[in-house]
Amino acid sequence: MRLTVIGTGYVGLVHAACMAEIGHTVIGIDLDTDRIEGLTRGRVPFYEPGLRELLHRGQESGRLRFTTSLAAAARSAQTHFVCVGTPQRLDSHAADLRFVDAVVDDLAPHLRGWCLIVGKSTVPVGTAARLGARLTRIAPEAEIAWNPEFLREGFAVQDTLRPERLVAGVLSPRADAVLREVYAPMLRAHVPFVSTDLPTAELVKLAANSFLATKISFINAMAELCDATGADVVTLADAIGRDARIGHRYLQPGLGFGGSCLPKDIRALMARAEELGLGESVGFLRQVDEINTRQRRRVVVLAEQLAGGSLSGLNVAVLGAAFKPGSDDVRDSPALAVAEEIHRQGARVRVHDPEAVDNARAALPWLQFTLDVPKSCEDADVVLHLTAWPAYREIDPAELASVVRRPAILDARHTLDAARWRSAGWTVRAFGRPKLGRDPGEGFR
Ligand code: UGA
Repeated sequence: MRLTVIGTGYVGLVHAACMAEIGHTVIGIDLDTDRIEGLTRGRVPFYEPGLRELLHRGQESGRLRFTTSLAAAARSAQTHFVCVGTPQRLDSHAADLRFVDAVVDDLAPHLRGWCLIVGKSTVPVGTAARLGARLTRIAPEAEIAWNPEFLREGFAVQDTLRPERLVAGVLSPRADAVLREVYAPMLRAHVPFVSTDLPTAELVKLAANSFLATKISFINAMAELCDATGADVVTLADAIGRDARIGHRYLQPGLGFGGSCLPKDIRALMARAEELGLGESVGFLRQVDEINTRQRRRVVVLAEQLAGGSLSGLNVAVLGAAFKPGSDDVRDSPALAVAEEIHRQGARVRVHDPEAVDNARAALPWLQFTLDVPKSCEDADVVLHLTAWPAYREIDPAELASVVRRPAILDARHTLDAARWRSAGWTVRAFGRPKLGRDPGEGFR
């Protein structure tokens, strides 16, 4: 099939490359001329495992091209995926729909005959119907559908090529058939295809992200109870996660969630519910959000405890800047938020990250950054482990102890081997594990 993908950000670029990979002829469209020029030369604008190879393969096969010209591309296909961003508005919690609105307005005049405009952007429920009405005023035969995206950064290619489910909100059997044809290889591999109406498809996405966020904040709330009672949250999470009805995923306690999706999506769902007069129904999401931001403050408090008082004038090493491992994305990164707060308190902060240093430096140029772990920890009074990069598990704590001023580490992601660090002379602290520093007899993972 011939497809266009409008917007070459995270979702759009991965979708375009994966659609070419499964045999479609795809034109990726973006207004950003630098980005399109880079993509045309095979440059991937962000870190995502496997994407570069897919991009090159698509371009070499001739099935994947990029352009800034919506008009020319619009006429070359009948199916158009809309993958532009819906960030949080600056003046409220609601989603900013300017970009999706603009795509529909710009695309509609170029459409001839029946075509399908498929939204992939995350939008508040009711947006698709509104856009559909807007579209058909200019292009009466065009039809809208909604096909939310569930990919995770760091696993974007595998999540797109082998999704756990596909969700299609459609208005007609014809739209349903087109989307089944687009995803035919996945359907042959028995990926469930949930065909539904527009509002359900829109809501599935925000409901899924809100559920994941709730799970994370739930375990972080339990960590606070553990801190107050002497219980251990890692053991607790392991034990409750063994119940198949609960499961271990998204039950990793620690510094909480960040990134460009979970925080903004719970807020967008709350904002939309309030517009509908249903704010109370999802009132718990406000607490989910509050518990999450509280984790960032708790790191600062724990860091002060570890340092034995104020952080002002101390050297603090921060391991991790990305919002999660496997990504160079620092948007709403919990790690960077903590680094910034500690800097504000007068500490000298040196941040290490294996992939996100460039983006982090662009966001917070007044902090110091390095690609070298020992350098980030030189003369450190406290080390904060804030993003769970697997490489940090390989650090030799004895070696690192020789470069710091005081061997004290806060493992805010619960992935370090506490016993190993302690036997190398470190004081180790972690949320929800109050006995960590005191009782060598405890069983640690
Ligand atoms: C999330 C969803 O997982 C995707 O399904 C969705 O498509 C995407 O948002 C989106 O809406 O575009 P992503 O933002 O890439 O994906 O990140 P996740 O892997 O879900 O992690 C989100 C945050 O939660 C990270 O900061 C991570 O460190 C944190 N997290 C995750 C925890 O604190 N504990 C956990 O147990 C799991």
